[in-house]
Amino acid sequence: MLGLTQKIGVQNLNLYYGNFQALHDVSMSIPSNKITAFIGPSGCGKSTLLRTFNRMNDLVEGCRIEGKVTLDDQDMYARNCDVNLLRRRVGMVFQKPNPFPMSVFDNVAYGPRTHGIRNHHQLEEIIEKSLKKAAIWDELKDRLHKSALGLSGGQQQRLCIARALAVEPEVLLLDEATSALDPISTGKIEDLSQELKRDYTVVMVTHNMQQAARISDRCAFFLLGNMVEFSGTHELFSHPQDKRTEDYISGRFG
Ligand SMILES: Nc1ncnc2c1ncn2[C@@H]1O[C@H](COP(=O)(O)OP(=O)(O)OP(=O)(O)O)[C@@H](O)[C@H]1O
Ligand SMILES: [Mg+2]
Repeated sequence: MLGLTQKIGVQNLNLYYGNFQALHDVSMSIPSNKITAFIGPSGCGKSTLLRTFNRMNDLVEGCRIEGKVTLDDQDMYARNCDVNLLRRRVGMVFQKPNPFPMSVFDNVAYGPRTHGIRNHHQLEEIIEKSLKKAAIWDELKDRLHKSALGLSGGQQQRLCIARALAVEPEVLLLDEATSALDPISTGKIEDLSQELKRDYTVVMVTHNMQQAARISDRCAFFLLGNMVEFSGTHELFSHPQDKRTEDYISGRFG
């Protein structure tokens, strides 16, 4: 982490779903303006950890955490933390594209409108800017008022990224955001993530190790709720420090 600025800090995080402990004493530092990838087998706690970064786990009944998670050194779980503001600062895109059943325009305008922006001209500007950032403006500029449900899966996912960007977050969480997409759409989103890290901090969960190796700067490997290893991506894939990481990345796992 030498020379990197910490955006999100995790200190001794334990997370429980009822009696089940899903994360064990995780501590890590997520750098600003980089892509950090989480890899590991199904059920190891990648999505769970990602959800603690914008308190989406608050919505899960029986979920409880110990330890500390910070955004710009501010405790996200402090009593005085404004969760709406936190979720605006930390946006999230899920595995399955989930556009709202409304027009392309209204999908992207949704967040800004809930934050009080009503001026049509201003909304138009935000929509154009967000769709451009999500590399889908050219495809959608002539169908802004058509239903988002009529788009292809890859277009829907880029629309969801545009929707997340429209409220100008600082961090973008991508939970297997390309796993349902064809290689061309995946490539577009991978290229896009390289652009996005100039302005945003990106944290992505992926099952695709080639993808993690291709696009992330730092990579963490998880097993059974433990963070086994976290280092520079090149280092993790070329010189894993832990035998379990080595077994996983070489496909000898399980
Ligand atoms: N809402 C929940 N209630 C109870 N247990 C849960 C809940 N969500 C996740 N878990 C459990 O916590 C553990 C971690 O789940 P999580 O979804 O974080 O794994 P993951 O690494 O994202 O897996 P995948 O790669 O399959 O998405 C699993 O054992 C899972 O069954
Ligand atoms: Mg998951």
